[in-house]
Amino acid sequence: MSDEQNRWVAPERRPDDRLDQALRPKRLEQIIGQGQVIENLSILLDAAKQRSEPLDHVLFYGPPGLGKTTLAHVLANEMDVNIKITAGPAVERAGDLAAVLTNLRAGDILFIDEIHRLGKTVEEVLYPAMEDFALDIVIGKGPAARSVRLKLPRFTVIGATTRLALISAPLRARFGVVYRLNYYGLPAMVEIVQRAAKLLNVEIDPDGAREIARRARGTPRVALRLLRRARDFAQVRADGSITSQVAADALSLLNVDELGLDEMDRRVLSTIIKKYNGGPVGLSTIGASISEEPDTIMDVVEPYLLQLGFLDRTPQGRVATKLAYEHLGLPFADTQQPKLL
Ligand SMILES: Nc1ncnc2c1ncn2[C@@H]1O[C@H](COP(=O)(O)OP(=O)(O)OP(=O)(O)O)[C@@H](O)[C@H]1O
Ligand SMILES: [Mg+2]
Repeated sequence: MSDEQNRWVAPERRPDDRLDQALRPKRLEQIIGQGQVIENLSILLDAAKQRSEPLDHVLFYGPPGLGKTTLAHVLANEMDVNIKITAGPAVERAGDLAAVLTNLRAGDILFIDEIHRLGKTVEEVLYPAMEDFALDIVIGKGPAARSVRLKLPRFTVIGATTRLALISAPLRARFGVVYRLNYYGLPAMVEIVQRAAKLLNVEIDPDGAREIARRARGTPRVALRLLRRARDFAQVRADGSITSQVAADALSLLNVDELGLDEMDRRVLSTIIKKYNGGPVGLSTIGASISEEPDTIMDVVEPYLLQLGFLDRTPQGRVATKLAYEHLGLPFADTQQPKLL
């Protein structure tokens, strides 16, 4: 099976983009779940609007596919301002960032995706821009060089990252608010599936929606992808409507199991168990064993396995838990685990 099919959580690529736009909530009230974050955001918005001020800088972090980019767009819509979009790896030189900054208008939002991947020199341009709305430019070279400070309009940075730990302390300190997005609970996931089905004009019964929601690992992006595939399956192999049986058959065919684990998740677990006797084993060793980037395992696979309690993180490395053995139907012997004294 190709990597593409294996990765239900991977960021959107071209073909789905148009559909994705249609499914993306536009206003805060359309966002399902994430109750506390949404409540805080609505206070932030109302306060800024009442004072007729731009929003404070906002940082979103959490696993992929939970709505960081969506929320950045929602905030721009709610504030009725322009949003400029860039990403850490795309801003290579300080000059690139300076060009973006000098093109901003008052109130604009600058969305920086994967902000943990900004280079050091670029970051240093961002500090005064975020704090004092100023851009320091060096003119000339050698002894004659001098620094000129350009004033920027008041704008808002919205940063998004899957790795809060990789954000430097000075950068983090410049965000007025930092919100963590968590995996969605089942009721919210069911609602997200039902809303999307309605927008896609596909018939789905409550049990069908539940079946997809249950297997979508608490991640809206995964739910939307599984829904599209279940829709195809229903159309070709059934009468077009998604029942729980249709959903279950469609998803089993895609190797997504009852807990939402896909091929890659199971490969990580079975490697730890079969090849490394349950662990502890380092992430890079696991990555090498299954020819997968350690970064992908860390961002996409590991958070959900930790959440399910299938994996423990110890200073010596990753350890598969008894629950993981049981899920894979493998015998668990206590001696496989390091004794915790
Ligand atoms: N609360 C929600 N309600 C309904 N749909 C949602 C919600 N959150 C996200 N989605 C949908 O899930 C998809 C993924 O969301 P988004 O692209 O915002 O995730 P992300 O956190 O930016 O992911 P990444 O880390 O990969 O960039 C979007 O297509 C969006 O339509
Ligand atoms: Mg995103």
